[in-house]
Amino acid sequence: MTSSAQSELVLPDGFLMGAATSAHQVEGNNTGSDWWAFENRPDTFVSEPSGDAADSFHRWPEDMDLLRELGFNSYRFSIEWARVEPVQGRVSRAALAHYRDMVRGAIERGLTPVVTLHHFTCPQWFHARGGWAAPDSAEVFARYTRTVLEVLRAGVTYVATINEPNMVALMSALYRRATESRTTESRANEKGAGHTGAAAGFASVEPAADVTEALIRAHHAATEVLRDAGLGLQVGWTVANQVYQAELGAEDVAAAYAFPREDVFLEAARDDDWIGVQAYTRHLIGADGPLPVPEGAETTLTGWEYYPEALGEAVRHTVDVVGPGVPVMVTENGIATGDDERRIDYTIRALESLASAMADGIDVRGYLHWSALDNYEWGTYQPTFGLIAVDPDTFARTPKESARRLGALARSGRIPHAPAGALSAR
Ligand code: BGC
Repeated sequence: MTSSAQSELVLPDGFLMGAATSAHQVEGNNTGSDWWAFENRPDTFVSEPSGDAADSFHRWPEDMDLLRELGFNSYRFSIEWARVEPVQGRVSRAALAHYRDMVRGAIERGLTPVVTLHHFTCPQWFHARGGWAAPDSAEVFARYTRTVLEVLRAGVTYVATINEPNMVALMSALYRRATESRTTESRANEKGAGHTGAAAGFASVEPAADVTEALIRAHHAATEVLRDAGLGLQVGWTVANQVYQAELGAEDVAAAYAFPREDVFLEAARDDDWIGVQAYTRHLIGADGPLPVPEGAETTLTGWEYYPEALGEAVRHTVDVVGPGVPVMVTENGIATGDDERRIDYTIRALESLASAMADGIDVRGYLHWSALDNYEWGTYQPTFGLIAVDPDTFARTPKESARRLGALARSGRIPHAPAGALSAR
């Protein structure tokens, strides 16, 4: 890895610089999914339903045009299982054609597609038969994977089987707790929970162990299908990196806390072609477990500590656990803020921490910012993560200054690289 000057790192050839979305968060009207059902039931635990989202189901060409014009060379999006297989065993040819068009559309625009097969949402029928806890969930997921080969054949190289399985295992535990012991009080406390709203709740539950096992089985079964297809697919999955930081003396507590919540999923990726790192903030662990955000620390619209260096630390931890032979792809990193200046500052500092990991020899193949668009943040539209603003009434897209700045870096093939010692001095 070469540094062109003290302050920049030249990205390797083929490095992917882009942005990410997931189907449910941007498409709109994902009516066959379990999330749609949760959001719209009378006793829902979320504050607002996804509705039309960013209408990207129809406006994806415009989204891709913008990303290309901004200077990016990659777009990560997901295929919606509930659309592809709305009833178990019944495949929608139209949905397959839709996602095939997206793959072709990305390639035509010079955007390398990074395609996720499962990003939090399942078809309602899958949920009804027990979700991931059903004994044959891995086989059912592998069958769906076989079905979408038809989409991937249109020119995909990078496939992520399951997004953030560690969050799925935690969300399953929270969902079980919410449905098994629903009291008026607990329901009120859960209001607004979704993904980020549930962050506080995450600390109070153990990931569902049966779901963890099922997800690992499903990932391995899907990987086999993808590899056997002979399409040269590069397969991985993406893990939510929590960047656990132990207080002095709490190292063992932190390691025991981290294992079921993150490291078990990283270990399951040791034979993969790449590993997806998704980092936003850090979590402090004391002798009695997780600690609150330090007093006086800046927080974001999701209540997370403003801590951009999480990215470099997440990359280093991932490689420590998975091993240096599996390349890293940053599949998500970003900030929920209404102040785009903070997004710019956060992103620059996150990239500096990434550059420092790369300069130390870590093999990183891409950086995909979360998110391309302001979108549905699992229960609410309030936390805005987008590089591009979306008007909720007209769906008009307006790129923010952060989008232009990151796009310019993508075009330049360089990212900021702070002088040694500068990161730790902050
Ligand atoms: C998820 C996204 C989510 C983002 C911000 C990630 O954990 O993959 O779906 O919107 O974090 O919370």
